[in-house]
Amino acid sequence: MSDICVLGNFVADNSFYAKHLPTKGQTIFGTGYQVGPGGKGSNQAIAAARLGSNVSFLGKIGDDANGKMAIDLYKKNNIDQKTIYISKEYPTGVAGIMINKEDGTNAIIVYPGASMEITKEEVDKFSNLITSCKVFLTQLEIKTDVTLHALKLAKKGNAVSILNPAPAITIDDEFFKYIDCFTPNETEAEFYFGKKIENYEEAKLAGEFFLKKGVKNSIITLGDKGAYFSNNETNFSLPALDLKGKVLDTTGAGDAFNGALAAGLEKKMEIKECLNFAIKVSGISTTKKGAADAMPFVKDIN
Ligand code: RIB
Repeated sequence: MSDICVLGNFVADNSFYAKHLPTKGQTIFGTGYQVGPGGKGSNQAIAAARLGSNVSFLGKIGDDANGKMAIDLYKKNNIDQKTIYISKEYPTGVAGIMINKEDGTNAIIVYPGASMEITKEEVDKFSNLITSCKVFLTQLEIKTDVTLHALKLAKKGNAVSILNPAPAITIDDEFFKYIDCFTPNETEAEFYFGKKIENYEEAKLAGEFFLKKGVKNSIITLGDKGAYFSNNETNFSLPALDLKGKVLDTTGAGDAFNGALAAGLEKKMEIKECLNFAIKVSGISTTKKGAADAMPFVKDIN
């Protein structure tokens, strides 16, 4: 049995680097291109595994070259491939990512392919992994009814559940009562809160809103402003790492944060220590190109 169980997607990231992001109708020349492993769920699983946690990953890929990239990734990172479904019908998902070379910011389109086809029944075949893990981590890049079903399973067991509500999409209010840690970035938090979040005070108000909805802990990541934590006992902000001039690619930074949060919680770190650790891991991931490939190992953190 694993300490952390992640349910989510794998896609192959096609990343294009350029001096700026193109505007509507514009064609520009790129300065670099690479294909590598991505998908929020898979990235988060890799992040936690590289930090020394015992991780299982539940997902679906296609029977193709991109699917092989996923299998190779799990082999290299000590993740059991038995929990990966292979579709004969759908191709492995892909993402088109445009990255601004100057500051590492990006714009992403994800075509989920096979990853969107995982069913509740397929999740149920590995329900023991969800009910027996210490931390269950998931996102919104697969069908929402499957995500909700899995969150309910996590609650049946004793797992701490983390929902990284990305990409921001409408979810049923029912979701919130099954979430121990709700981890939007500021843009996603604005979507769920319905108001702008530009400072800690606004993040605090959003946190209060999420707690009222039923989540136990609200953790809003704020890019270069760090993160804001709230629960019914306390709330506080934490600064980001100072990375001036070192940021190459922010793709997967949120995934690094969530994977590290899961790893810290699984290791029973105290919440402030855990969040500082996640901020550090996330910051370090932006100093390398790619998503899963940029996730740091324990040796990189120290
Ligand atoms: O969070 C970053 C990830 O989002 C990328 O790897 C891309 O695949 C998209 O799913």
